[in-house]
Amino acid sequence: MREVRVRLHRSLAIGDTDPRLFGAFVEHLGRCVYGGIFEPSHPSADGRGFRQDVLALVQQLSPTIMRYPGGNFVSGYNWEDGVGPLASRPRRLDLAWLSTETNHFGTNEFIDWCQLAGIEPMLAVNLGTRGADAARHLVEYCNHPAGTTLSDLRRAHGWERPHGVKFWCLGNEMDGPWQIESKTAREYGRVATETAKMMRWVDPSLELAVCGSSGRNMPTFGTWEETVLEHTFDHVDYISLHTYINNYAGDTAAFLASPDLMDNFIDEVVAIADAVAARRDSSKRIMLSFDEWNVWYRTRRTPEARTRPDWPVAPPILEEIYNVEDALVFGGMCISLLNHADRVKVGCLAQLVNVIAPIMTETGGPAWRQTIFWPFAHFSTLGRGRVLRAEIDSPTYSATYFDPRGSQDLYFPVPEAPYLKLAAVHDERTCALTVFALNRSLTEEMPLRITVTGFSKPVIEETIQLQDSDIKAVNTKEQPDRIKPWPLDRVHAEGDDIYALLRPASWNVIRVGVK
Ligand code: AHR
Repeated sequence: MREVRVRLHRSLAIGDTDPRLFGAFVEHLGRCVYGGIFEPSHPSADGRGFRQDVLALVQQLSPTIMRYPGGNFVSGYNWEDGVGPLASRPRRLDLAWLSTETNHFGTNEFIDWCQLAGIEPMLAVNLGTRGADAARHLVEYCNHPAGTTLSDLRRAHGWERPHGVKFWCLGNEMDGPWQIESKTAREYGRVATETAKMMRWVDPSLELAVCGSSGRNMPTFGTWEETVLEHTFDHVDYISLHTYINNYAGDTAAFLASPDLMDNFIDEVVAIADAVAARRDSSKRIMLSFDEWNVWYRTRRTPEARTRPDWPVAPPILEEIYNVEDALVFGGMCISLLNHADRVKVGCLAQLVNVIAPIMTETGGPAWRQTIFWPFAHFSTLGRGRVLRAEIDSPTYSATYFDPRGSQDLYFPVPEAPYLKLAAVHDERTCALTVFALNRSLTEEMPLRITVTGFSKPVIEETIQLQDSDIKAVNTKEQPDRIKPWPLDRVHAEGDDIYALLRPASWNVIRVGVK
C-alpha cells in the first residue's frame, strides 16, 4: 500500500472527551450480575459478595460510569423488589429475558459496588410497566437526604447518606416491539416529559437522557427522535443511541467498514436534535448518550431466545465469544466515538461481564479478558483529553454492510471507507498525544506518516498493537492470553513526523510525548 498521510495540528480540535464517554453497562441479564460482579459463594468474594477477581479486571478496563439495571430488564422492574431485607425480597418472572429474578442484588448493592470500583452510577427508570410515579419515588429513595418515608426507608436499609445519583435514563429502547410495554413516539414523548419534570422536582441537579431509536435500522429512526424531542426538548439533556454491529454475512471487509455507519448515525441524530432546537430558536444543544454499543450477533436472534420454559436463574445467555476481527471492529467504534467528542458525551459499552462482555467468568472459577477488552482499556485510559481533527489521506474501499431487521434483509453501502480509521487525542496534563489507528486492509501493511504541528518535536513513549495471523482467534479459560497486545516495533519520530508500519488487520496505539 502507498504511504498513508495524516496531518494534525495542536489547535485544530473536535472537542474534549467527557470522562463519561468511557462507560459500560450492567444489566440483570444472564450471568452479568449473578456469577459476574456478584457471587457470594466465590472464593474471591468479599463480605458483600463482590468478586474481587472481576473487580481487578474492571479496574484495569477502567470504565468511568456504569448503566444499571437495564436494558430490556428495566421495563418490567419494580425497584422496590431489590431493596430491604434479603429474606423479604420477592422472586419474579423477568419477561425480558425469560428468567427468574431473585432480587438478591438491587440498587443499594449496585451503588456499593460502584463506590468500591470508583465508578459513577447511572440509573435507568422503568417507563414500560411503571411510570413517572415510580421514577420520582426511586429518585427520592436514592437522593433525598432524610425526613421522608422513602429517604428514611433507605436509611433504615443501612444507607444513611444519599446516593447522589446524577445521571438517569428515561426508560430503555421504548421504540422496540420487543420492549415490555413499548410505546409510540408520541406516547413515550408525553410520559418521558412528565417523568422528567417530576424527577427534577425531587432533585433539580439530575441529568436526564431520553430514549432515541434502538438502532439506525429501525423503521421509525429519525421520526422517532424528532417527535420525542419535540415533546421533551426543554426537560432533558441527552438523547440515547444504540448500535450493535454484526458479521452475519461473514464479510470481514464490510464488518470492518461498518463503524463508519456509526459516524453517520451520530451525525444524523445531531442534525435532528439541532433542527428541533432551531425550530424553537433555542441555543440549547442536546448531547448524545451512546449508552449501548458493541459487536453482537452470534448469540442474538437465536431460536431459543423466546423459549425458556423452565425460567432459569441467571442462565448463561448472550455469552458471545469475541475474536480478533471483533476486537478490530470494536476499536473502530472507539475511534468513531472519539471523533464525535463534541456531541457524544456519554458512552456505555454493552455490557461488562459475561453478557456480550469484555470480561468472562466461570461461576465458581476464574475470570479472564476477551479480545475486545484491550481496545476498550486503551480507549479509556489513553483517550482522555482534546480530540484533534485529523486530515487523512488514505486509499479507500467500498463495502456493503448487511444489517437485518426482523425478517427483513437490509443492506447499507459504505462507498468510501478509508483503509485507515484514526483518532488522535492530546492530553495537556500528561503532555501526551495518543493516536488510535486501525488498518482495515486484510492483506496489506500500511506505511503511515503522521505530521504533527504546533507541538515541540514528538518523542515516542509507548506503542501497542493488537493483531494475529488468525483473525478468528479467541481467548478462553484455558488460554486466557492467547490474544493480547504487544509493542508495535516499527515506529520512529523524525522532526515533526511520526512514521509507523501497521500490520494488516491491526489495532494500533502510538503515544508520543509533546510539549
Ligand atoms: O444489551 C442487551 C440488550 O440489547 C439490552 O437489554 C437492550 O437494551 C438491547 O436491545
